[in-house]
Amino acid sequence: MKAAWCVEYGPPSGISVAELDEPEPGTGEVLVRVHAAAVNYPDVLIAANHYQVSAPLPFTPGSEFAGVVTALGAGVTGPAVGSPVAGAVLSGAFAEQVVAPVEALRPIPDGLDMVHAAAFHVTYTTAYHALVTIGGATAGEWVAVLGASGGVGSAVVDVATRLGLHVVAAASSEQRLAVARKLGAEAGIDYLREDLKTRIRELTGGAHLVIDPVGGDHAEAALRALRRAGRFVTVGFADGAIPRIPLNLVLLKNLVVRGFEARMIRHEDPEATLAAERALAGMVRDGMRPLVSRVHPLSDVAGALTAVAERRTTGKIVLEMAAR
Ligand SMILES: NC(=O)c1ccc[n+]([C@@H]2O[C@H](COP(=O)([O-])OP(=O)(O)OC[C@H]3O[C@@H](n4cnc5c(N)ncnc54)[C@H](OP(=O)(O)O)[C@@H]3O)[C@@H](O)[C@H]2O)c1
Repeated sequence: MKAAWCVEYGPPSGISVAELDEPEPGTGEVLVRVHAAAVNYPDVLIAANHYQVSAPLPFTPGSEFAGVVTALGAGVTGPAVGSPVAGAVLSGAFAEQVVAPVEALRPIPDGLDMVHAAAFHVTYTTAYHALVTIGGATAGEWVAVLGASGGVGSAVVDVATRLGLHVVAAASSEQRLAVARKLGAEAGIDYLREDLKTRIRELTGGAHLVIDPVGGDHAEAALRALRRAGRFVTVGFADGAIPRIPLNLVLLKNLVVRGFEARMIRHEDPEATLAAERALAGMVRDGMRPLVSRVHPLSDVAGALTAVAERRTTGKIVLEMAAR
């Protein structure tokens, strides 16, 4: 089978496409023929060995995929061979076949094709939990979303709007803000040219909630724009710099700062997981689709990852295995 191949940690330009043996599912595992795989920012970090968890070399990058079950390993009774599934693993998804633990698979919500199914789960689950499970979002509140045209950011804007929140989007250009506005953001702030704290306060009177997948200097500016007892949810550091927040800011306004990490939520909070799956499936039935801005063939895996690493993408980029 064809698969992306990383033999040395570093920038995405070092990733090639190789001809590999098909993997075999072990105990508790399932073999999936991958139709589409989405690029997430963590794929760039894993290739550079800058992620929280390492993928041992050499390896096939790629975490999020959608495809069809082709074989079951020992001890696995379903999903049946032929079932469409989506899933997420640490690595291995940028390939024509991937092996995944059965618990990493989930059914594809009705209405999503393979490309959109591949792009859906990581960002939309993260968005829902950051807003609702962790952020306690309530209809009518103002949420400020950083990196609002990115994968996670665009999903947060989309879900928040559908939950009846007012969204102020922050991003690095007018063009990127237009993407967030299209998804429902009522206001936009170009945080490279405008003062983020001042503008959030002007537009919202003080945000109730901040969702931050970016970090860097923007985090503290957004936290300072919260109203009393506001909530700040950190979900990632696409900026590269991990902010250090002076705790006096948190104390003075009774703020709440919380984090969200998607990989553990299924084990830590099965009830919230079920609630999120139900709510998101309902939104998909109502027409919600992840924003897929580009589809690349597997042969262009390095180009797709480079575009994400260089901040040139909006929404999600998807690799389609059958595309030439
Ligand atoms: N906690 C979780 O469970 C979870 C789940 C998924 C992802 N994440 C994390 O969330 C973050 C965003 O992931 P994503 O998949 O949404 O990434 P993405 O699609 O690349 O979006 C990231 C956004 O961050 C902004 N950004 C600011 N500085 C940047 C820089 N130096 N390089 C690249 N982007 C920069 C960009 O928007 P502007 O140009 O408009 O600033 C970009 O749209 C990552 O850190 C990822 O690891 C966490």
